[in-house]
Amino acid sequence: MIPNKYPRLYSPCSIGKRIALNRFVSQPMECNDSLGGKVSERTIARYEALAAGGWGVIIIEALAISHDCLARKNQMVLNQENLEGFQRLVSAIRRVNPQTIILMQIAHSGRKSGKEFSRPTALYAPKEGEHLLTDDEIETIRKGFVEAIVLAERSGADGVDLKLCHGYLGCEMLRPANNREDRWGGSFENRTRFLTKSIAEVRQRLSSSEFILGSRVSYYEGIRGGCGTCGAEELTEDLREMDDLIKLMRTLNMDYINVSAGIPGVTSEITRPTGTSKWFYLHQFRYAQRVKALAGEIKVIGSAYTVLQEESLALAEENLQKGYVDFAGWGRQILADPAFPKKILENIPVNYCTMCSGCSRLMVKQQPVGCVMYRN
Ligand SMILES: Cc1cc2nc3c(=O)[nH]c(=O)nc-3n(C[C@H](O)[C@H](O)[C@H](O)COP(=O)(O)O)c2cc1C
Repeated sequence: MIPNKYPRLYSPCSIGKRIALNRFVSQPMECNDSLGGKVSERTIARYEALAAGGWGVIIIEALAISHDCLARKNQMVLNQENLEGFQRLVSAIRRVNPQTIILMQIAHSGRKSGKEFSRPTALYAPKEGEHLLTDDEIETIRKGFVEAIVLAERSGADGVDLKLCHGYLGCEMLRPANNREDRWGGSFENRTRFLTKSIAEVRQRLSSSEFILGSRVSYYEGIRGGCGTCGAEELTEDLREMDDLIKLMRTLNMDYINVSAGIPGVTSEITRPTGTSKWFYLHQFRYAQRVKALAGEIKVIGSAYTVLQEESLALAEENLQKGYVDFAGWGRQILADPAFPKKILENIPVNYCTMCSGCSRLMVKQQPVGCVMYRN
């Protein structure tokens, strides 16, 4: 074992009332390999490989709250019927690595639901083929989130990530462009009701006060009226309202915020910079640093480190040492090499993601997702 060049990355850190053994976060990466919504053997093998890789925190990919809001045909669905599979998944991860913190991302795909196999729904300004959700339907979906979170606890996970990013329903809800005239749109209070009401209800329902509650947000989406603008007609960045969201999350005593940006398929390069758009990582770093300055006790996870390849380690270490983030998250790199943290520690050569976008192409084609460059 080599002397550790990255002491802060390999140092423990609390998240909620739990301790992660290091600051490496395996970001949620949908891999579209369930069996009709149920956890498959391929899914279990993927997460076992991550567990063996020594990540401090593993965030299990976007799990749909029901079958009618799938972004991918074979996305997993966290419901009562599928619970046993999720219990097996969590046990399998723990068997390989009892210390990794396991979080589950809870999602409703909204407009991003595939129309061939699901039901695209809009909160405002529906396009052709999209159903405009009624007030009651939104409340039913909100209750679905709460149920899924309760099931995540029963599966044995350590916590959840409410997906409020990447153009999914939770993200649409927050946007200044959400001009609904009922209790879910218009004012900031209305647009954050989904979150505030859900967190309050979840706390009543959970068995343990130690269950970790966090959320992934797109701090700036890059679309007119999107998160990170100051009005329905605005396009340029104005982060003041997103700052208010962080302050709200503090009052809700949330445990962590996973800071992302952009909308895959719309402003993809903001979400996942590639070789030709590498410098977008600087925006992602800036958003995470800004959130950290406002977050108080809430832990902050930064995103979009993959494009930096080997250099990501030194920059993650620097961001941690300077107090700009508490954790660093890798997305595509977890597919290229699930053993990344362990290999660095043991001085074993790493397969670095080449940003070829092969994984994204598989996802768009509704194939099981994996790295097309390296076979892991
Ligand atoms: C194939 C694929 C699947 C993804 N699935 C999810 C997901 O389920 N939930 C999520 O929040 N982000 C998802 N993302 C975004 C990543 O978590 C991450 O934010 C993005 O790839 C940027 O990080 P990176 O530069 O380290 O890859 C996905 C990205 C890709 C390429």
